[in-house]
Amino acid sequence: MRSKVLALALLLPLAACGKQVSAPATQGVTDAAMSQPPAGEWLTVAGDHNETRYSPLDQVNDKNVSQLGLAWSADLDTARGQEATPLMHDGVLYVSTAWSMVKAYDAKTGALKWSYDPKVPRAKLVDVCCDAVNRGVALYGDKVYVGTLDGRLVALDQKTGKEVWSKLTIPEGSHQAITGAPRIVKGMVVLGSAGSEYFSRGYIAAYDAQTGNQVWKFYTVPGDPSKPAEGKHLEAAAKTWSGDFWKTGGGGNVWDGITYDPVTNLIYFGTANAEPWNPAKRGGTNQKAGDSLYTASIVAVNADTGAYAWHFQETPEDRWDFDSTQQVIVADLDLNGTKQHVIMHAPKNGYFYTLDAKTGNFISGKPFVQGINWASGLDPVTGAPKINPEARYEVTGKPFLGFPGAIGAHSWTPMSMSPKTGLVYIPVNNTPQVYAPDPDWKPGTTGFQLGIDASGGNIPADKAVRAGTMAAMTGALVAFDPVTGTEKWKVPYTSPTNGGILSTAGNLVFQGTAQGEFRAYTADAGKQLWSFPTQSGILAAPMTYTIDGEQYVAVLVGWGGVWDVSGGKLVSKMTPNISRLLVFKLNAKGQLAPMPAMADRVLDPPPFTGTPAQLAMGSKIYTNSCSVCHGNVAVAGSLNPDLRHSAALGNPKLWQQIVHDGLLSQNGMVAWKDQFSPDQIEAARIYVVKRANEDKALGDK
Ligand code: HEC
Repeated sequence: MRSKVLALALLLPLAACGKQVSAPATQGVTDAAMSQPPAGEWLTVAGDHNETRYSPLDQVNDKNVSQLGLAWSADLDTARGQEATPLMHDGVLYVSTAWSMVKAYDAKTGALKWSYDPKVPRAKLVDVCCDAVNRGVALYGDKVYVGTLDGRLVALDQKTGKEVWSKLTIPEGSHQAITGAPRIVKGMVVLGSAGSEYFSRGYIAAYDAQTGNQVWKFYTVPGDPSKPAEGKHLEAAAKTWSGDFWKTGGGGNVWDGITYDPVTNLIYFGTANAEPWNPAKRGGTNQKAGDSLYTASIVAVNADTGAYAWHFQETPEDRWDFDSTQQVIVADLDLNGTKQHVIMHAPKNGYFYTLDAKTGNFISGKPFVQGINWASGLDPVTGAPKINPEARYEVTGKPFLGFPGAIGAHSWTPMSMSPKTGLVYIPVNNTPQVYAPDPDWKPGTTGFQLGIDASGGNIPADKAVRAGTMAAMTGALVAFDPVTGTEKWKVPYTSPTNGGILSTAGNLVFQGTAQGEFRAYTADAGKQLWSFPTQSGILAAPMTYTIDGEQYVAVLVGWGGVWDVSGGKLVSKMTPNISRLLVFKLNAKGQLAPMPAMADRVLDPPPFTGTPAQLAMGSKIYTNSCSVCHGNVAVAGSLNPDLRHSAALGNPKLWQQIVHDGLLSQNGMVAWKDQFSPDQIEAARIYVVKRANEDKALGDK
């Protein structure tokens, strides 16, 4: 019944071509203002419609940035990953924080104007890979919009922070979640959801900004074949899948980049990986991988109706978790003497793509990292990858040491393009990964649904091997010339997953690092000019604004997201996790409170008494279901408890109460009783006991 009503609701606005949308905002943040942001304001999460994250402000520049100092800071109320870029309108900064909370500050003084908490149930944490993060809010008219981790789209009053309306946008009871920033398009709020590891069918949808009513919805992967397809593009896509893939969802979620281009009236967005990762487990037995459209693709739809316009699949046959969800930048490039309206994209798979914005036609695809081995290159005409046969691990049955790995050569941390230098600044990761099929895998109930055996990625308890592996995990800031397809300059980092980028007309590029520094470089040459110690790692991208003639630069600090290992290294609690909003201006002299001392811990595990069979079982369970939050080989960073230190480690009964029964589910540690038996859960404890003893022997803390 429910689905019939829904289908009808879908058809109506489509038939009317989106005419149902309420009148566009005429006051406050209008469409015109978003197209041409007033000088000094930052109205959309990426600063402008083209998603360039470039600011024309140049009061802070390469001559004086060394005088940049802390104007004010605000401590946030969670010690979790912070990924949002603040917005600034009319002297107020609007920012979302962990658990989808929203805060408004006086942008000049830092005084908190209001704070909103959607009260996301903490057990929802199990439906996200990478922490309870949120990447930003949208402003329109007199409202603020936020997508919540548990799938609601909420409209708030800009002045008071009071909820105006709230709509559940994910299917009821589903494992999908929202971490991305909504975008505003002609009176609509456009938003997708995350979940391509959790029984999810990807989609993007538009909602009336005044009422929250759905205007259109576009599914990125086909559904149950016994029901009519929701569009011709899905009939075509269904031919690229096999078996009963739709039972595990298919993936292709639209969890981050969404760009509206007024020139073409198209919305471009990237889609996530295919689900489960192992194509042989997408339905039936030993299925051959099809292209699995429209996963790992850029798709364009008509902004008014959501009708399919074109797609370009960056990673066909995805089995490496190669999301294409990164932000899409629109630009007019001078290519071989002709001006072309293009989109640019740097997905996880390591190639930088330039496509014709109107048609999606491939223009160029060049590597922005060295050492890509899942493909030997791209077809120069079509852009299709030449896939390395060894990378098809489910076909060979052998582990494949892939580069890039699932963290991606570039993930959601936003890149920026400066029209002044013509360069695109990409936060790059060098993170290889072992992919191995798990022939025994069956869909479960709780947590990740991958179909692979992740234990090949377990870092051995050997000092030299560990050091070598960690040394191989690095990052970089790469300045890439999209016209020549080559790297112009590069700043290497000792660890991956550094922050997003802001470039400015002051010949500056700002970026925070995983190691806890906020830095400024020259945009033309990559020379470091300034740095501020932020105490905790930075993932978020900065923004800039002016008030009363003074330019400010703001960034969120707070380590989290993927890879819960302090500063990207396999060291437990190396840095604390203090979440803050930091705001800088010239000649300010603010100081952060001194860092709290880290508690000195010693590893003191009970003796290992398990059997080899228990250890093997426990290792597999821990690796595939627990490590996503508690860290590789049970070494956790600053986000979730390091289980080697847990009081429950020597108390099997308490361990069962926590893991099996869900004693701590209100704090984000769900019950695993539907997925694992008490024996399996005990085996996970035995594995962690073993790991703790190994690390104690190595002298770890
Ligand atoms: C989605 C993230 C997530 C996953 C996956 C996860 N946990 Fe947790 N776990 C948490 C959080 C958050 C806490 C802290 C809860 C609190 O603060 O009370 C926690 C706490 C615990 C604790 C108590 C630690 C202490 O403080 O003494 C144990 C034991 C534990 N988890 C075991 C496991 C095991 C075993 C698995 C895999 C079957 C697992 N967890 C999977 C998030 C997770």
